[in-house]
Amino acid sequence: MPSPIRVAVTGAAGQIGYSLLFRIASGQMFGPDQPVILQLIEIPAEPAMKALAGVAMELDDCAFPLLAGIEMTDDPAKGFKDAEWCLLVGSKPRGPGMERADLLKDNGKIFVGQGKAIDENAADGAHVVVVGNPCNTNCMIGASQCKRIPARNWSAMVRLDQNRAASQLANKTGATVNDIGDLFIFGNHSPTMYPAFGLAQINGKPAPQVVSDDAYLQGEFCETVGKRGAAIIAARGSSSAASAASALVDHVRDMLTPGAIHSVAVQSEGAYGFDPNIWAGLPVKTTTPGEYEVVTGLDLSDEFSQQKLAATNAELTGERETVADMLG
Ligand code: NAD
Ligand code: LMR
Repeated sequence: MPSPIRVAVTGAAGQIGYSLLFRIASGQMFGPDQPVILQLIEIPAEPAMKALAGVAMELDDCAFPLLAGIEMTDDPAKGFKDAEWCLLVGSKPRGPGMERADLLKDNGKIFVGQGKAIDENAADGAHVVVVGNPCNTNCMIGASQCKRIPARNWSAMVRLDQNRAASQLANKTGATVNDIGDLFIFGNHSPTMYPAFGLAQINGKPAPQVVSDDAYLQGEFCETVGKRGAAIIAARGSSSAASAASALVDHVRDMLTPGAIHSVAVQSEGAYGFDPNIWAGLPVKTTTPGEYEVVTGLDLSDEFSQQKLAATNAELTGERETVADMLG
């Protein structure tokens, strides 16, 4: 058995935390042979730490063979100490009628402090994944405050959108999600995101050819994927949690699997016309565990794709202006 890795999770007593921690501790994120020490971070205000103690009791009660330790704290400096993976979930979710960007003023400042705490405490070469919304811009804020760890090690989660898009295409065509390939999310985790159906394959054939309904793909498909989070809030009364946790498991596992290609919001270097230094959803190929390259050169030159890319880029650059005073 390798030595345990330290995994810090913020918002550990929240809804996503309640699904996520058990998936990590059972080995689904880091593999069936990799022990983990969970460093769980919450806020001091009641009832967070008390609820967290209850979650830790349940983790104990699962007797997971790979769970080598549980630490709980409301101090980010302790929580991120020597962490190799920092999963930043803790922040406010939106309620009905809100957009994720409405959370920016409240949630953005969390990532100023956490970026600094990671800078000062996490392991060299740590990887950070931001889930708390609006996750692309929160990730940019955190990375800007953290000079010791390279910005390319900071990613934000658009994998839930990729998974949603795959299920929509599978349901529409009678295929299974296993039959869907090359389906990537470009841009912001917001209704402007572009699930680039023109690149996707269904059983090895171009998705537009199989679906044979461009109006559906450009209209209902993009709209359903882009607004799925709001539909879940309207139905459940609170935002997606188990599916978000599952997407985070997929995100990290694929980042550790050489050859995997998946949608990740990473720092733009200008590919596909995204402004440099925003965090944009892009197709990313894992080269070695934890390292990646952006897949460039995919053909998105058609007018519809160009409009969608421009709209999501404009939203991300607008968010960057809104948080200019939070950037380090
Ligand atoms: P939740 O309210 O159930 O839990 C959030 C937890 O974070 C709470 O326990 C809270 O005490 C804690 N918290 C708040 N500020 C903190 C801080 N500074 N440090 C540590 N912990 C802190 O919310 P949730 O449903 O778990 O969602 C969490 C976030 O994830 C929200 O912002 C939500 O919008 C976002 N989200 C993102 C995606 C995505 O695809 N990127 C999907 C679903 C949810
Ligand atoms: C989601 O996509 O389900 C999350 O980002 C939560 C939300 O606010 O939509």
